[in-house]
Amino acid sequence: MNNGSAWLPEQASTLAPEIDALFYFVKWVSLVIFVGVVAAMLYFMFKYRRRDAAERPVPVKESKLIEISWVVVPTILVLIVFVWGFQGFIKLNVAPPEAYQITVRAKKWLWEFEYPNGTTTVGEVHVPVGRPVRLNMSSEDVLHSFFVPAFRVKHDVLPNRYTSVWFEATRADTFQVFCTEYCGTQHSGMLAKVIVHPEAEFREWLNSGGGNFDEMPLPEYGAILYQQQSCNACHSIDGSSGVGPTFQGLYGAERRFADGSTAVADDNYIRESILQPQARIVEGYPGVMPASYGSLNERQLSALIAFIQQQQ
Ligand code: CUA
Repeated sequence: MNNGSAWLPEQASTLAPEIDALFYFVKWVSLVIFVGVVAAMLYFMFKYRRRDAAERPVPVKESKLIEISWVVVPTILVLIVFVWGFQGFIKLNVAPPEAYQITVRAKKWLWEFEYPNGTTTVGEVHVPVGRPVRLNMSSEDVLHSFFVPAFRVKHDVLPNRYTSVWFEATRADTFQVFCTEYCGTQHSGMLAKVIVHPEAEFREWLNSGGGNFDEMPLPEYGAILYQQQSCNACHSIDGSSGVGPTFQGLYGAERRFADGSTAVADDNYIRESILQPQARIVEGYPGVMPASYGSLNERQLSALIAFIQQQQ
């Protein structure tokens, strides 16, 4: 097990040691060349300094050996880095055919994962240890980028096109996923976890429906969605006013809209406000809520409504 260094994070995939080896090769070669060049420069500055005002420099005669070596040695070094890097690039891009496949959907500002048996998770992806896993990724809105430092994998996630990464985790643990393409106000909060299980535990997790939220009481599930779906970025639950109205005391209260009309915030009003945010805009707020929540399913909507109902 490698816990990382000041230069690189811990290694937790089969590809990490190879990628790091190339990094350290480039680092050490650069360091040796840098020290050599600076040392030679200082030595020559001293050796060939002007000692006397009447001194005239002697013309230098070229040295074939030195001229050839400063062309050949760097060329060989660059070719080593190229071949080594290209091999790594191919390995990173071509997943083994037997890889376990997981579908990844990115959207502002969360990661959603779907497994072959239909199980879905948000904000965490479960994978087996010691087995290649391929992520087939797409975005529902803008450019995102999927990055797991411990696995040394990073790839852009695009709307209207599939991209993929693959990795084989080398130990059961939890690793951090980042979004590394600026995608809006909550970009820095667009995080997820990779949870690596031993094979048997992974099977069990998957067969149990992925421990999804089917059995969780609605208000509790709603509280999770409130975070996961980033509702909390705009709607507080403590009464403070954000980009959007607070959820505190919302349920059952009378709402006044920009067009002067009013309505009582009941289940149907909240449902409409989630699915069609522009239908009725509360007076005093900009109508900036994205329409992307239209993809929430019925249970998720009920859960959010139940959660909002509790915020009195
Ligand atoms: Cu998604 Cu940054």
